[in-house]
Amino acid sequence: MTHQERVFSGVQPTGNLHLGNYLGAITKFVALQESHECLYCVVDLHAITVWQDPKELAHNIREVTAAFIASGIDPKKHIIFNQSQVSGHAELAWIFNCVARMGWLNRMTQFKEKAGKHKENASVGLFTYPNLMAADILLYHATHVPVGEDQKQHLELSRDIAQKFNVDFKDAIIASGYEDGLFFPQPEPLIQGPATRVMSLRNGQNKMSKSDPSDMSRITMTDDADTIAKKIRKAKTDPDALPSEEDGLQNRPEAANLVGIYAALKGTSKADVLKEFGGAQFSTFKPALAELAVEKVSPIGNEMRRLMDAPDELDAILRDGAERAQKIAAPIIAKTKQILGFIG
Ligand code: AMP
Ligand code: TRP
Repeated sequence: MTHQERVFSGVQPTGNLHLGNYLGAITKFVALQESHECLYCVVDLHAITVWQDPKELAHNIREVTAAFIASGIDPKKHIIFNQSQVSGHAELAWIFNCVARMGWLNRMTQFKEKAGKHKENASVGLFTYPNLMAADILLYHATHVPVGEDQKQHLELSRDIAQKFNVDFKDAIIASGYEDGLFFPQPEPLIQGPATRVMSLRNGQNKMSKSDPSDMSRITMTDDADTIAKKIRKAKTDPDALPSEEDGLQNRPEAANLVGIYAALKGTSKADVLKEFGGAQFSTFKPALAELAVEKVSPIGNEMRRLMDAPDELDAILRDGAERAQKIAAPIIAKTKQILGFIG
């Protein structure tokens, strides 16, 4: 039984959705709608691995939903839904807690970064977070996963979990009708283009992130035109002109970042941007970038605000999405339990 191609990805409702989320993930989600069946999930179970204010969480769930729709994801043709509304995510995550090995999770760099020096005080959920992510994907037998560069290691873990499950339960899997023994597919990460890792506007060594204390470090999807232009004007740069070739961006992280952002917004490559702007000073390039960013991002922010004014409609879209996601998940979770020897 070979697996039909299916796309799954998730975004955490933790506020401050930014240009990195948009260029690294959401624009890819939009593009894949043409060629694939897609499920896009607001992953609230992931969000609570660090404490969330309940009122803000509800707001942030609706905000990610609005961002998906405002960016061009069609909730009728595809599925937009909320993780906690489909119980299979938590069920399969538990099963994967029993498949993944401590040693695998101990190698996860994101846990080390997020837990920092206070590892003993991090939630257990933060540690097992990648198992839940594997469950999200494999609950739908999804085959392709568009994400930013920072999720690469988690995707590798998902592949390892799928493979270990298939090996550990090989006989039961074959007996259940999967003659090739491949019950779970190996999900493929889709990490491509000039903006898979958008960096902070204040420091080209740091990733643009929702949790950076400086609002000037990121362009958020709801920033108005003036704010977007101001943040680009004030973005850190070096004193040199832009190079004519990509090689010239080495050891110039801030310049490389702004060129990458321009290329991604324009839908072209860094090389093409440098063909146009090679030799130009930032005093020329920044206004061009600001204009492009305002043109592309601010209409989405406006549409998000409009959608957020009708929270009941967003909630109805999420409920409908969860119902449809549940229909895909139900036979897969039932089969998983049967394979394990649970009595149905
Ligand atoms: P998160 O906000 O952590 O749920 O991330 C949602 C999606 O955005 C994931 O696919 C991330 O890999 C992607 N992402 C987050 N930050 C960045 C960034 N700075 N550059 C590119 N992609 C990012
Ligand atoms: N962990 C991802 C992030 O923080 C979000 C996520 C959760 C996800 N489940 C997923 C991404 C499944 C892709 C597939 O960015």
